Amino acid sequence: MTGEQQGEFVDMNQAGRDAGLQGQPEPRMVTVSIMGKPASVPEDATIMRAIEHSGQQIIRGAGCREGFCGACGTIYRLPNDYRIHTGLACTTLVEDGMALAQIPSVPIEKAIYDLEELTPDVDTIKKIYPVTFRCVACGTCTKACPQGLQVMDYIQAAMRGDIAELMELSYDCVGCGLCALRCPAEIIQHKVAILGKRLYGRYLRKESEELDARLQQVKDGEYGGEYAELMSLGREALSERYYARDME
Ligand code: SF4
Ligand code: SF4
Ligand code: FES
Repeated sequence: MTGEQQGEFVDMNQAGRDAGLQGQPEPRMVTVSIMGKPASVPEDATIMRAIEHSGQQIIRGAGCREGFCGACGTIYRLPNDYRIHTGLACTTLVEDGMALAQIPSVPIEKAIYDLEELTPDVDTIKKIYPVTFRCVACGTCTKACPQGLQVMDYIQAAMRGDIAELMELSYDCVGCGLCALRCPAEIIQHKVAILGKRLYGRYLRKESEELDARLQQVKDGEYGGEYAELMSLGREALSERYYARDME
């Protein structure tokens, strides 16, 4: 795993390994290599689940487990394939012969700035993340992105000072850091993306009457009852409500 939260595995005892699997039909198994050690894991397991099935406990580099938080960026190799593959460990399924390894940390320098003192243009990108201009347009970041984002294009937008395009193209970034890990110019793309989103939100976003009206409703306490009810729910009930929600 990579990004700011690195994956780290520790052995669990055997008794706990298959807890919860009793009484279930036997799944089809594939063999993966975890830190050089072969492990037989269910073929429909994600990388994260496979690591745990093999008796390891992931104590860092895991968060939401559903592809949203970006904590579990990881790399792997496949048989007869020279490429290094990247993915989110919580959503990437294992393949027979997959080789997984814990990787070293990737230090990321987060710039400190006051949004109120910035302008939404190229001068800000130059000032806050000058490293951006080292981009050689190799496209490696785009190939590495598990979200399928056009990472190189949003970095090019940042270099042009096109903050709206930077925001638009990086909108679905989960901050896994895999692009930064692979970038030969050592650019920290996801941090540039966050800066772009902040600049857009602060200076360029279009006014929305609907949003303003809704915010006023919140301020007036119209949702106070529902909010209090949610806060009183236990984890399971809250989870049920979350998954049953209306999604656009
Ligand atoms: S990997 Fe780095 S140098 Fe290559 S296109 Fe992406 S940002 Fe530019
Ligand atoms: S842009 Fe970079 S940090 Fe964001 S999801 Fe893609 S690889 Fe991860
Ligand atoms: S654990 Fe959150 S994206 Fe994988």
